[in-house]
Amino acid sequence: MLAKEIRQKYIDFFVKKYDHKQIDGASLIPENDPTVLFTTAGMHPLVPYLLGEKHAAGKRLVNAQKCVRTDDIDEVGDTTHLTFFEMMGNWSLGDYFKEESIKMSYEFLTLPINDGGLGLDPSRIAVSCFIGDEDAARDEEAAKAWEALGFHRKKDGDELCGGLIYFYGKKENWWGPAGQTGPCGPDTEIFYIVDKEKCPKCDEMGVACDCGKPVEIWNNVFMQYNKGEDGLFVPLTQKNVDTGLGLERMTAIMQNKNTAFETELFASAIGKIRELAKNNVENANSNFAESERIIADHLRASVFIIGDRNGVTPSNTDQGYVLRRLIRRAIRHAKKLGIQGEFISEIAKIYIDLYKDVYPELEQFKEKIITTLQKEEEQFIRTLDQGEKEFEKILPHLLSNNQKILSGRLAFKLYDTYGFPIEMTVELAKENGLEVDMNGYQEAFDKHQELSRAGAEKKFKGGLADNSEATTAFHTTTHMLHEALRQVLGKHVEQRGSNITAERLRFDFSHPDKMTPEEIKKVEDIINTEIAKNHEVKMEEMTVEEAKAKGAMGLFESKYGEKVKVYSIGDFSVEICGGPHVKNTGELGKFKIKKEQSSSSGIRRIKAVLE
Ligand code: ALA
Repeated sequence: MLAKEIRQKYIDFFVKKYDHKQIDGASLIPENDPTVLFTTAGMHPLVPYLLGEKHAAGKRLVNAQKCVRTDDIDEVGDTTHLTFFEMMGNWSLGDYFKEESIKMSYEFLTLPINDGGLGLDPSRIAVSCFIGDEDAARDEEAAKAWEALGFHRKKDGDELCGGLIYFYGKKENWWGPAGQTGPCGPDTEIFYIVDKEKCPKCDEMGVACDCGKPVEIWNNVFMQYNKGEDGLFVPLTQKNVDTGLGLERMTAIMQNKNTAFETELFASAIGKIRELAKNNVENANSNFAESERIIADHLRASVFIIGDRNGVTPSNTDQGYVLRRLIRRAIRHAKKLGIQGEFISEIAKIYIDLYKDVYPELEQFKEKIITTLQKEEEQFIRTLDQGEKEFEKILPHLLSNNQKILSGRLAFKLYDTYGFPIEMTVELAKENGLEVDMNGYQEAFDKHQELSRAGAEKKFKGGLADNSEATTAFHTTTHMLHEALRQVLGKHVEQRGSNITAERLRFDFSHPDKMTPEEIKKVEDIINTEIAKNHEVKMEEMTVEEAKAKGAMGLFESKYGEKVKVYSIGDFSVEICGGPHVKNTGELGKFKIKKEQSSSSGIRRIKAVLE
């Protein structure tokens, strides 16, 4: 069964059999949420609804969500870690709870393929539930739901096998909040035993064994608590279900493959990498497999990060920095495999073709994806050359002083200033009879990491859904800016991206030319005049057709079906949006544009503040 069939089956099962509404996946780069770099789970864009806000599509939702997780970039290369992945998810917003959710999941997994399920072997399915601690009770309700389906609680002496219920603590069986605060709760995890030949630790560890034989396939989170800033877990009035099933992992299982890299999701890209490296395949060793997985994973993630509604380009901060690291690491590994010259765009085209039916934005932004990758590739190849030259400059000095060691400080400088990877420094040093002081390098590196971590913590400290006053005010202002730009520049202006922090708003929009100082002033004046009118900000729910008739701006291709939320700012602006907004424009303060610059070809970027 191909990934695209599994994706569709999942959606169909929940839509047709259990009355869920399919909702659009969110952008991979969260809008109006300064606290996270990427969307990391399907629940991410749903936080306000998990906390009780009404969702226009109802109480039962299902979708496929593009996700990027960056915690484990350095682990990618093994057989399991992926930077980009698709998460299939179904949600109950205060509707069904544990018993029904567990029943639905089990049914989908085990129902014969022709009846709409995946037809998995029940004797290979085992599960885990929350054991209980001082914050929350043992999850008897989930365990009983599994018992009703024929599962048994694991007893002393039971060996790892299907049909068992294991109990673990928070580390294994608790999910969220995704930031410091927010919705969270106990979960039940569903495992598939891919290989009945156990490892020596399997019986003792149960499904938590990390040998790769029990594979976690689905996580059903029962979001019944909200973790507050005081660290306490307060029961939510609205009890929700949030589930996540990794599409790539499930595809490998359905195809009896050991890893997702052996499925059609990666096969063409890996085939191309092998073809390009063909002169070296004879010398292939285990590092070869690792390198080709890194290239395949990192370039797939890069294609999705650039080719997103809020797509970014490589830079030295935030998402752009992650993207840069991914591209550069892929290039370095290509070099290791002996791939000569530029190659990235060939791999990128394979992914665009593979995914464009499900994610049409990849086709829409194809040119941007290809040129961005090519530009970064060219630049990094130059960096590598420059690093080599720098190294050659240092070399005579080292050799004439009869040194055998290249200092860690110098190795770090090559890395930090010239982007020259440590592995290459080590390799070059070795070729010249030198050794790199790796401890010194690590020390310099750790010190640098500490500094950047301190920066990152600042970024993450606000929790997941930062609905603070400052960001809410900027969000309303963004709507006003959108309208004012259309009035001043013309109706061709459309939103292309939005990013808000507590300090400023950033708005990307389509417009071919640099704005003149007069145009900037006009936009500011319009917004300040409208702010001073103390417009009430009103929300109404209506169908997409009604919203269109009302002249609302926004995304009309929405699959929500029934209803969308439309926010009006007096008679000035009408836009489809999820909120939140201020109640009255009088709360906003004075609007000022701080910067107007190019974002990419045909797209301008404004940074603005409220004073
Ligand atoms: N939000 C849950 C997860 O990411 C389903 O595992």
